[in-house]
Amino acid sequence: MKILGIETSCDETAAAVVEDGTRVLSSVIASSADLHSQTGGVVPEVAAREHLRSILPVVEKALRDAGVDWPQIDAIAVTYTPGLIASLLVGVNTSQALAYLKGKPLIPTHHIAGHIYANFLGRSKEEIQFPLLVLTVSGGHNELILMKGHHDFRLIGQTLDDAAGEAFDKVARLLGLGFPGGPAISRCAEQGNDRAFDFPQAMLGLGHRFDFSFSGLKSAVRRAVEGMEKPLSPAQVSDLSASFQRAVAQALAEKLADAATEHRASSVHLAGGVSANRLLRQMARQSLPDSVSLFFPKEMVYCTDNAAMIAGAAYFDPRPLAGWKGLPASSWADLAAA
Ligand code: KG4
Ligand code: ZN
Repeated sequence: MKILGIETSCDETAAAVVEDGTRVLSSVIASSADLHSQTGGVVPEVAAREHLRSILPVVEKALRDAGVDWPQIDAIAVTYTPGLIASLLVGVNTSQALAYLKGKPLIPTHHIAGHIYANFLGRSKEEIQFPLLVLTVSGGHNELILMKGHHDFRLIGQTLDDAAGEAFDKVARLLGLGFPGGPAISRCAEQGNDRAFDFPQAMLGLGHRFDFSFSGLKSAVRRAVEGMEKPLSPAQVSDLSASFQRAVAQALAEKLADAATEHRASSVHLAGGVSANRLLRQMARQSLPDSVSLFFPKEMVYCTDNAAMIAGAAYFDPRPLAGWKGLPASSWADLAAA
């Protein structure tokens, strides 16, 4: 089964053709991130206009790169939530029009389900064992999700304030490192001493065993910066980056390992933009028992937003338009109900 995936929830206009949920025949991504780096964050109006400009050429290129034409496409999958509403609308409206014109079923797909299924791309279905525990860490999401089967999502924990990616982006802005912050901080951290600053990890009260909080850490970095003479030297920025990155990766890896043990997960998955972080991967591996296999997207490009993951997620639960209630608000409840 060949599915054309379309993703426009943030600043990437993406289309891909994926066969049977795992074999990527093409994946095209046009990003407007360069425009947003000038403003230090995504400007929704700018992102939506760029989607309008790119969407049809990107879809055409995805079909061309895959060496297929419309008759070979079995269905179209599109991200319907969560995301920036004007950006989502470009993908959804285009997909609805194409589905109608070409006579294809349309599968509305949750963006976070997409990130989770990015781990199946390029792998055999048998390689991944349930129950699996996923840590979704992106710019807007930070959840621990238990799956006992396909599209069976149970929320185990979540952030009480910022998502990990959001914390990376805010701290990067504070350090003058630009947007997106995650890759910039990791690069800087390579030259830094990760013990130079002893940033705190959130102590959460009873009932929040698998929840996260990054606002205290973010404030601690701000206070440290405020107490230093300006401008900061490159060495100081590197030390701050390395110490901050260690604190985030440690907090994520520790909770992940505890939850994996408690829920007897056979495999543990990192998903979303922050899953590209090498230190997080390393620390997650070190904190998990050897018997638990660790997965992250096989290719770096599937960590951040792309359309192959949307086509992949849709394959494992190809429910067409019936029952779709349009564009609901972004929330965990949407994924649980998806
Ligand atoms: O999944 P994604 O592309 O978009 C959302 O759905 O949010 O994730 C983007 C986030 C940004 O916050 C970015 O700073 C972060 O992922 N990110 C990273 C790395 N690469 C991207 N964070 C830490 N380390 C990285 N290497
Ligand atoms: Zn995303």
